[in-house]
Amino acid sequence: MDWGLENRIRRMFPVASGNSVMLAVDHGYFMGPTRRLENAKATIAPLLPYADALALTRGILRSSVPPSATTPVVLRVSGGATILKEDLSHEEVTTGIRDALRLNVSAVALSVFVGSPHEHESLVHLSKLVDDGEEFGMPVLAITAVGKELEKRDARYLALACRVSAELGAHLVKTYYCDNFEKVVEGCPVPIVVAGGPKLDSEKAAMELAHDAIAAGAHGIDMGRNIWQSDHPVAMLRSLRAIVHERATVKEALAVHDEAVRRAEALPAISPSRRA
Ligand code: 5RP
Repeated sequence: MDWGLENRIRRMFPVASGNSVMLAVDHGYFMGPTRRLENAKATIAPLLPYADALALTRGILRSSVPPSATTPVVLRVSGGATILKEDLSHEEVTTGIRDALRLNVSAVALSVFVGSPHEHESLVHLSKLVDDGEEFGMPVLAITAVGKELEKRDARYLALACRVSAELGAHLVKTYYCDNFEKVVEGCPVPIVVAGGPKLDSEKAAMELAHDAIAAGAHGIDMGRNIWQSDHPVAMLRSLRAIVHERATVKEALAVHDEAVRRAEALPAISPSRRA
């Protein structure tokens, strides 16, 4: 692997655990102003110090993240469909490699839609993006999207989608957690990070998902809604860091969460003079 490409990957995995906690805030590219991501700048700001990488589009990067930020960026470069259409798989590469380089990002990401009407196009787009990535030292993260068919999230389907992505040259793969996830990991020769999917019933359920994914061999998470749609996003992100980097149990992660909430709630009681 060339130095620049490896350097970009390593920046996204900065902790000795070898794993990464990526914060996903790219949902607006097809969902519009999603709940609690309406004001992306306000959502991102308190979370940024706790993310190893930030996954988003160029529009939100330029408008809502200060250029002084040092957090590595995973730039979504595919799009072209919205939730108003039945077929979410009708995507193109919407951001060129030159803009990704101009933005100094650490990786580019696009969705592949295995088994969907535009499977072929999305896989060809991935292959071409990898050609560009190899030329310019830019890692490519393939996102094994399932569109609206959430029931596709089983090991047979996800193992196929992840393996195909890696075969076409993706340097990293983002997928969903599922039962028998170790089968997905086993068949994929490049690191996998897991998405959270729609908000789960509880913080504990999202922690369990992250915990089980790491235990099965995932190299981290690339999670959005279960963090910033939670009532305590910073506490949630800190508890996920404990799982991903310190292999905390869910019980330990819950304790990290509750302590962070207690501390945050105690802050307003401190007078401004004492805080300074
Ligand atoms: C949207 C994405 C998201 O980044 C990915 O699904 C992670 O976010 P969440 O944890 O909310 O599912 O790729 O297309």
